[in-house]
Amino acid sequence: MARLAIIGTGYVGLTTGACFAHLGHDVVCADVDADKVARLSAGEVPIVEDRLDLLVREGLDDGRLRFVVGAAEAVADCEVAFLCVPTPQNPDGTADLSYIEAASAEIAAVLPAESIVVNKSTVPVGSTRVVERVLGRPDVTVVSNPEFLREGSAIQDFLHPDRIVIGCEDQSAAIKVLSLYLSVTAPTVVTDPASAETIKYAANAFLATKLSFVNAIAAVCEGVGADVNDVILGLGYDTRIGSEFLKPGPGWGGSCFPKDTRALVRIAEQGGYDFRLLDGVIAVNEEQFSRIADKVREAVGGDLTGRAIGVWGLTFKAGTDDLRESPSLSVIERLVAAGAVVRAYDPTVGSDADLPPEATGIEVVATPAAACDGADVLVVLTEWDEFRWQDPAELAATMSTPSVVDARNLLDRARWERHGFVHRGIGR
Ligand code: UDX
Repeated sequence: MARLAIIGTGYVGLTTGACFAHLGHDVVCADVDADKVARLSAGEVPIVEDRLDLLVREGLDDGRLRFVVGAAEAVADCEVAFLCVPTPQNPDGTADLSYIEAASAEIAAVLPAESIVVNKSTVPVGSTRVVERVLGRPDVTVVSNPEFLREGSAIQDFLHPDRIVIGCEDQSAAIKVLSLYLSVTAPTVVTDPASAETIKYAANAFLATKLSFVNAIAAVCEGVGADVNDVILGLGYDTRIGSEFLKPGPGWGGSCFPKDTRALVRIAEQGGYDFRLLDGVIAVNEEQFSRIADKVREAVGGDLTGRAIGVWGLTFKAGTDDLRESPSLSVIERLVAAGAVVRAYDPTVGSDADLPPEATGIEVVATPAAACDGADVLVVLTEWDEFRWQDPAELAATMSTPSVVDARNLLDRARWERHGFVHRGIGR
């Protein structure tokens, strides 16, 4: 068992801390937000993440998980410190390293001799060296160990990963970090820091490419009268392609893909390569928001001015309360700009106050039915399971027109059509 410090208690830090405590390590998690630290210490988890609250409470009860204010306090007695702080996007698309640098500067003098600092934040290639420079501690080894956690299934992904990637020149530090993943069995890739950092960006960019590709294929299907559901079925059986990450939707979003794809374009540029393929992937995604808004416009007869739109789903995907770079909000922004009146329901969004300040013109309602009441069209933007089980007959009776744009191909089209709905999906 090792003594671990986790700097930053966002999605990545909290999942990492709770999972390492679950594996049996002694974990101290640090955050700058005293209020958050107090809530976490009381077992209150501020985000929606499957099983995270159970693991945090288990760690607190067993005395293996503690929360403190400040990175310096957390690392005082640690063997390994994990940097899990945000790397937001600069206005020019590059990643902002100031949180990484600040955390490294804060712990530099207090890190125990011969300890290891692990970078889990998604950082531009070369950042391991930046951390080494800021620390200025030749006795401390800096290791890159990128995370591949999906929000909503982060615990599952941590405990049953597809692979563990370690980037480090020092073999013994690499083995020490690997040994922390006690009972986790996964293929491991031990490489140099720059390659480990590149793996993370390449993985996210490839997945985003797959999604933009399938959204483009959906557009082709619409043009030629094919059904994208059958096309992706036939595509996914090819083991070289695989059936995951092939669902068309309103575009991809979240805290990682948009930021990391833009950052990789800039990283490539700085390395002398014009990554036009990835530019195209990003452009297709932006177009997808407009394509969905156009479907809604078409559903109301061509003019959105003053039309009442019911929206189901605001988060960037189901299983999370995260609204960052949500395609749903990007589509709604286009509808509102065209004069539509939007009433939206999401199981994790309680009121208008939970929305980011730039999301204007949305009235948040408390039930799926309230979003449909008097609406000219219903738009499904996030794939929450509960939407499947709503009763189209009841909804049709309260809407001014029984019409639905299903941007996730979530609903049973035949059933909704039986109840008088005009159903517009994607790619079919
Ligand atoms: C992603 C990566 O999957 C994860 O490995 C990385 O560490 C962080 O970024 P996350 O942002 O939680 O995880 O979301 P993910 O499940 O990957 O979905 C990203 C976006 O793609 C969402 O908007 C989602 O709705 C969309 N998506 C995903 C689809 O439209 N279709 C799919 O088939 C899968």
